[in-house]
Amino acid sequence: MVRRYACMLAVAAGLLLGLATVSRSKGLRGKKPQGVSRIPSLFREEERIAMKEALKGAIQIPTVSFSDEESNTTALAEFGEYMQKVFPTLFNTSFIQHEVVGEYSHLFTVQGSDPTLQPYMLMAHFDVVPAPGEGWDVPPFSGLERDGFIHGRGTLDNKNSVMAILQALKLLLIRNYIPQRSFFIALGHDEEVSGKNGAQKISTLLQARGVQLAFIVDEGSFILDGFVPNLKKPFAQIAVSEKGAVNLMLEVNMTPGHSSAPPKETSIGILAAAVSRLEQTPMPNMFGEGPLKIALEQLGNEFSFPINIILCNLWLFQPLVSRLMERNYITNAMIRTTTALTMFNAGVKVNVIPPKAQATINFRIHPAQTVQEVHTICSDNWFNIREVLELVKDIVADDRVQYHVLSAFDPLPVSPSDDQAFGYQLLSQTIRSVFPEINIVVPGTCIGNTDSRHYTNLSTSIYRFNPLYLQPQDFSSIHGINEKISVQAYETQVKFIFELIQNADIFQAQAPHWHEL
Ligand SMILES: *[C@@H]1O[C@H](CO)[C@@H](O)[C@H](O)[C@H]1NC(C)=O
Ligand SMILES: *[C@@H]1O[C@H](CO)[C@@H](O)[C@H](O)[C@H]1NC(C)=O
Ligand SMILES: *[C@@H]1O[C@H](CO)[C@@H](O)[C@H](O)[C@H]1NC(C)=O
Repeated sequence: MVRRYACMLAVAAGLLLGLATVSRSKGLRGKKPQGVSRIPSLFREEERIAMKEALKGAIQIPTVSFSDEESNTTALAEFGEYMQKVFPTLFNTSFIQHEVVGEYSHLFTVQGSDPTLQPYMLMAHFDVVPAPGEGWDVPPFSGLERDGFIHGRGTLDNKNSVMAILQALKLLLIRNYIPQRSFFIALGHDEEVSGKNGAQKISTLLQARGVQLAFIVDEGSFILDGFVPNLKKPFAQIAVSEKGAVNLMLEVNMTPGHSSAPPKETSIGILAAAVSRLEQTPMPNMFGEGPLKIALEQLGNEFSFPINIILCNLWLFQPLVSRLMERNYITNAMIRTTTALTMFNAGVKVNVIPPKAQATINFRIHPAQTVQEVHTICSDNWFNIREVLELVKDIVADDRVQYHVLSAFDPLPVSPSDDQAFGYQLLSQTIRSVFPEINIVVPGTCIGNTDSRHYTNLSTSIYRFNPLYLQPQDFSSIHGINEKISVQAYETQVKFIFELIQNADIFQAQAPHWHEL
């Protein structure tokens, strides 16, 4: 994940529900897991050892993305060789094609036996954010196993997915599994710094080949455990959208002067007042638009009176809940476009009034704004960004302030999560089969961004979900210190993908009515 506070709805409910206790456990809403795998996901002892050793080796390669311009290319290249060494089967199977894209990223095309089935894609990335060793219990690139955990940078974000996907496919292949539905595996090398050389190039390549995908699975959300006070039961959240972002620079130019005879207003004063007004005036509250409301309604039944009543009757309590969500900075980020003042530059000398003052603001755009406006009313991708800009200008209300858009991208379209959504239901059923204790699966929005944003032309169904439990303390380890994964959790992730690949074939047979597009 690019940003630390990715994909969390959860915390959400937290603040509203401080008082509630879990009332009862709910059934599967009438659905039984359908995903009975043809090959059981049972692994031999030596396979389980090889599995964790392979992950440790991957962690030891310091594939760090330092900045847009700088990454450890030696390590990136070494990672490619490592994959070939650990998973030779994937490189010499007749129906699997392997390509290196953008120098270091990898694309596998697994040709299914039934060409009438629309293919899908599994994604992950193997670059990591830097990890200066300070504060770590074990060196971040050691891949050491301690107390049942494999430690190191990338164990959650996101070499676990890279290795688990390849591992699961290898285990299927050596059991002579031949997939019916074709699929792609896209492994990016620069996700942490935009994905421009990796994911974007893979996407361009597939678009040129005319590929359309039934669905895409990327990292980005988890089984959330302990994020909601008093909701003891963990629940799975599949992120169906991501926020967009605009970096906007504000600039004020005035005539320079000596500080002994200052004018009434200076560039610094004017700009400071402008950004202060922006900070004091939040963008509109969008609660009620998008997946958050659906998720809260589904979670509602897990609480006792009166919270269940409130959440199950949002038609009535929406204004109350929406105001409560504004009170916490994380839940606030889920309900609106956020305004973050990140840079402020002016002045060079103690006795000179500077001509120029500049401030940069990072806005994260709520998906609801795009979904309604860009996709249904207007095809211009910049519409929504302009809309944020219009609001900014209204709030600032000062002609002396100039605006420069430094970079911008739209929020991602919201992928379907209804009963007919093939990819979403496939994930839900696989979650319920691999994690029988989980009976709540809700849609959510990523507050951060993933590589999947480069693939919007290939599919309308993009789901971000890592089959792992995440607790609040793990959350801060992503991009922070002491990132680690339990050996057990990693095995379960392999098992999940092992079943998911098979379910993608089985589901087709059992449920011919899915809308695959
Ligand atoms: C880059 O990766 C190589 C291993 O592939 C490692 O030996 C080297 O120390 C790394 N360089 C930096 C600056 O981390
Ligand atoms: C493919 O790789 C496996 C594992 O190294 C090896 O056993 C097998 O003989 C190879 N097959 C071909 C056709 O090269
Ligand atoms: C999607 O397709 C359009 C039209 O071909 C193109 O302009 C755009 O750059 C593509 N977007 C991505 C993210 O590949």
